[in-house]
Amino acid sequence: MQYATITGWGKCLPPAVLTNHDLATFIETSDEWIKPRTGISQRHISHVDTSALASVAAQRALDAAGLTGADLDMIILATASPDTLIPNIASTVQANVGAHCAAFDINAACSGFLYGLGLASSQIRSGQCQKVLVIGAERLSFYLDWSRRETAVLFGDGAGAVILEATDKAEGVLGYELNNDPAGREILKAGFGTAMDRFDAASLDFYIQFDGQEIFKRAITGMGKLSKQVLAKCQLDKDDVDLVIPHQANERIIDTLVSRMKIDKDKAFVNIANYGNTSAATIPIAICDALEQGRIQPGQTILSCAFGAGLTSAAAVIKWGSRVTPLKTSQAQLPPCDKTGLELVKRAADYFCKR
Ligand code: ACO
Repeated sequence: MQYATITGWGKCLPPAVLTNHDLATFIETSDEWIKPRTGISQRHISHVDTSALASVAAQRALDAAGLTGADLDMIILATASPDTLIPNIASTVQANVGAHCAAFDINAACSGFLYGLGLASSQIRSGQCQKVLVIGAERLSFYLDWSRRETAVLFGDGAGAVILEATDKAEGVLGYELNNDPAGREILKAGFGTAMDRFDAASLDFYIQFDGQEIFKRAITGMGKLSKQVLAKCQLDKDDVDLVIPHQANERIIDTLVSRMKIDKDKAFVNIANYGNTSAATIPIAICDALEQGRIQPGQTILSCAFGAGLTSAAAVIKWGSRVTPLKTSQAQLPPCDKTGLELVKRAADYFCKR
C-alpha cells in the first residue's frame, strides 16, 4: 500500500513587520485591545507578489527534501490572493523552481492548504503521482480596507509549503475530511471577481468583511466536527494526538476548540502572535515553526484543522516520518525590502483613512 509522507517543508515571511502599535498610529485601536482578544502582536507585510512568497517557500521545501523542481509530478497552490487570476500562480512557482508537471491554484480560503494536502495525498495514494508540492500563500494586505479596525488588525502576508512523497511506510497523511457550508457564504467575503461592475467605481471598493462573532462560533463547531470525524476515520482517539496544528485566526478560537475536544491546551501549536491570520499559509508556516522549535518529533501523530470563507472546513491526521531536520539548507531568498511595514501600508492607509 502506498502512503504520502511529508519530506520537505519551507516558509517565507516577508521581512517588513507591522506591529499593533504601528496600527494604532492610523486607526483607533491599541495593543491592549488586539492582543487579549486575538493573540496577535504583529503581522508581516509583503513588498512582493504572492507568487514570489510562494516560490521562496517552495524552493526551501524542495531543498529540505533534497529534491529539485524537476522531480515534481504536481504543484497545488492554495491561495485566495493570487497576483494573477489568469494564468494561475502555481505556474509562476513552477517556472521559478524549474518543474515540468501539472500545476494549479485552489481557493478554499483559510482551509486551502489542507484541501491541497488532502488532494495531493490522494494523488499519491492512488499511484498517479510520486512527489507533490503543496503551497499555501497569501498577500491579504491587498484586500484590507485599512480604515476598518475590525479587519485591519487581523490579517498578514506569508507563505508555507510542503513536499509530499510516496512511501510504503504507514505514515504521512493518514486521513482527511473536507467540507463546505454554503449557507455561510455571506458572513465572510471580499467582493473581488467578475461580479464586479468594471464601469462603476463603487464596485471596485472591495475589502474583507465578516461577522466576527458568527465566524468565531462556526469556526469552533466546524473544526471540532471535522477533527472528530477524521480521528474516527483513522481509528484514533483524541488521546492519540501528540500535537494539534490548527488554523490561526484567533488564539481564543484555538483555546476553545481544544478545550471542547478535551485535548490538553499544551498540545495546541500557536504562533499567531507573530503573523496574524495568513489564511491558507497559516498551517504550513506553523508546521515549519513547530519543526524549528522541536515541537514535532519522529513518529508523532498530528491533528491539523482549518476553517474559512465558503464556509470551508478541513481536518487531517498526519503521522510524522523519521526526519525532522532539512536535508539541505536553502539559499532561496526574497529580494531585499528597504521599507518598514508602516511605510508599505502608508499609501493604502492614507487612501482609506482620508476618504
Ligand atoms: N480595536 C479597537 N476596538 C475594536 C477593534 C479594534 N481593532 N475592532 C472592533 N473594536 C470594537 C468594536 O467597534 C466594538 O465596539 P462597541 O462595543 O463600541 O460597538 C467592540 O470593539 C467589540 O467588538 P466585537 O466585534 O464585539 O469584538 P469581539 O470580542 O467579537 O472580537 C474579533 C472581534 C476579534 C474579530 C472576533 O470576533 C474574532 O476573532 N472572530 C473570528 C475571527 C475572524 O472572524 N477572522 C476572520 C477570518 S475568518 C477565518 O480565518 C476563519
